[in-house]
Amino acid sequence: MEPGAKPGLADSFQRWAWQQLEAQDRPEPEGPIDWKPIWRIETLNGVNTLRYMRADPAASTTCVECHNRLEQRPETVAMRLAGGISTGKMWKLHQLMGALEINIPLDRVEARAEEHNRLTFMVVLGCCCRACCASDSWSLPTWRARAPSRGSSPGGRATILSPGS
Ligand code: HEC
Repeated sequence: MEPGAKPGLADSFQRWAWQQLEAQDRPEPEGPIDWKPIWRIETLNGVNTLRYMRADPAASTTCVECHNRLEQRPETVAMRLAGGISTGKMWKLHQLMGALEINIPLDRVEARAEEHNRLTFMVVLGCCCRACCASDSWSLPTWRARAPSRGSSPGGRATILSPGS
């Protein structure tokens, strides 16, 4: 996130999901919080997309110490003020510090799932043939399975958000 930029909650999914994460936060966590990731499927840039956000909590005291120190720096205070965010936030261990967002376009995933089903069907068919025609006098058709190419893995984009307040 750009220093001084408005908190990274750029669109309605991010605002909605962040609210859901904030609702799970506790004022005095006694141990790690059982964060539930937030997700929904929506059209993003014209593509059916699975949008997923999970908490990035203060997992260790080092996070808390360093970030609470950062919040007190004049530069950070100025940045928070410019962003309209309350200043002097002091995190406690296990509290919500930020979030990780992942967007997975589903068009390619769906296309691959279809391709995978077709492949499975062919393999099953091949096994059936082999079982039925156990006699050696038959020449069996050879099934050539095309391994899904690496490059076609469903792309996801991860973004780290820091809504700040
Ligand atoms: C030694 C200092 C230090 C420690 C330790 C540290 N951070 Fe950070 N963290 C930073 C700094 C510096 C930034 C960038 C701040 C900015 O850009 O405003 C940052 C950014 C972040 C962000 C916002 C991401 C972004 O791009 O702005 C989150 C969320 C975050 N840290 C969480 C954590 C968590 C969780 C831990 C512990 C597991 C942790 N940090 C440990 C210094 C630290």
